[in-house]
Amino acid sequence: MQKTHMTLGEFIIDNQKHFKYSSGELSRLLNSIRLAAKIVNHDVNKAGLVDILGEAGDTNIQGEDQQKLDVYANDVFKSALINREIVCGIASEEEDDFVTIEGKENSHTNKYVLLIDPLDGSSNIDVNVSVGTIFSIYRRVTPSGTPVQSEDFLQKGNEQVAAGYIIYGTSTMLVYTTGHGVNGFTLNPALGVFYLSHPNMEFPEDGAIYSINEGNYVHFPQGVKDYIKYCQEESENRPYTSRYIGSLVSDFHRNMIKGGIYMYPTSAKAPKGKLRLLYECNPIAFLAEQAKGKATDGYKRIMDIDPTELHQRVPIFCGSTKMVAKAESFMAKYPEDKDY
Ligand code: AHG
Ligand code: MN
Ligand code: MN
Repeated sequence: MQKTHMTLGEFIIDNQKHFKYSSGELSRLLNSIRLAAKIVNHDVNKAGLVDILGEAGDTNIQGEDQQKLDVYANDVFKSALINREIVCGIASEEEDDFVTIEGKENSHTNKYVLLIDPLDGSSNIDVNVSVGTIFSIYRRVTPSGTPVQSEDFLQKGNEQVAAGYIIYGTSTMLVYTTGHGVNGFTLNPALGVFYLSHPNMEFPEDGAIYSINEGNYVHFPQGVKDYIKYCQEESENRPYTSRYIGSLVSDFHRNMIKGGIYMYPTSAKAPKGKLRLLYECNPIAFLAEQAKGKATDGYKRIMDIDPTELHQRVPIFCGSTKMVAKAESFMAKYPEDKDY
């Protein structure tokens, strides 16, 4: 007999009990993300059939070529949230600056802001490899009733109320946390319903997979080079397996299930790292810690970093606790890169 799983909609309502004075606003916000995820999923799945592959012909503020699906996914998430007047502001990888949402009669009364990487791993779209969406939610810090300000977005990861990702893979999953563990929901595409398929997801304490773009090896800091050599040495459970998809969401998701470490360190080519603190590293770090894993910049917790810019980059080492701790022990042998 087929098992009956709880739906994401039911789970979100049930989860409200964790928030004593909940007004249901966060639940409505998560439901809007659920809707946008289904729309993006539908189009990602048709990618080879409709004119949505390839470059959009523009670059984002970080100088990266925007793919048509980057722009499309950004529009879908933005309009789902604007139409439902469910946040007071959005910051996105694909927007130069944060977007203010006025709400009814310019009242600016919604209490949450959303930060989003609408399509992560977009260089993989054209070759039919898994991509994702990453999101992070904060309570605004400026007074309700006024337009949002940059300080509403430049908050430490520690302040996150919720974070999650959608992985458009062999099946589509939405994985999220509100600070009470990590739960994963798989989309039944025929019904358009997400079902709880992976309750209480946890990183194995140790693992045997390392994920890094090793093509950049010569440009890595010495601590990273030494750790890679350690991963490749012959011992009881080494050499480890190397797996790198090139979509943070997909690499993280696999490592959380199987046990592993994902690294995007600084390099001579990317002196501050490549991944963005606010809408890639912080949500991933929140999920990692909620799943009993670890996320650092090689020296300190990602979620303790005080952000200074919306599109700020940081190096990241995240995954199984023992593996990240080991990588940090190699980093500790060298002084922290002052450039970063
Ligand atoms: P995005 O598509 O949102 O710009 O993110 C791509 C990121 C991340 O998903 C991935 O792990 C990393 O870039 C891959 O970078 P390299 O190609 O430099 O390895
Ligand atoms: Mn990304
Ligand atoms: Mn992206």
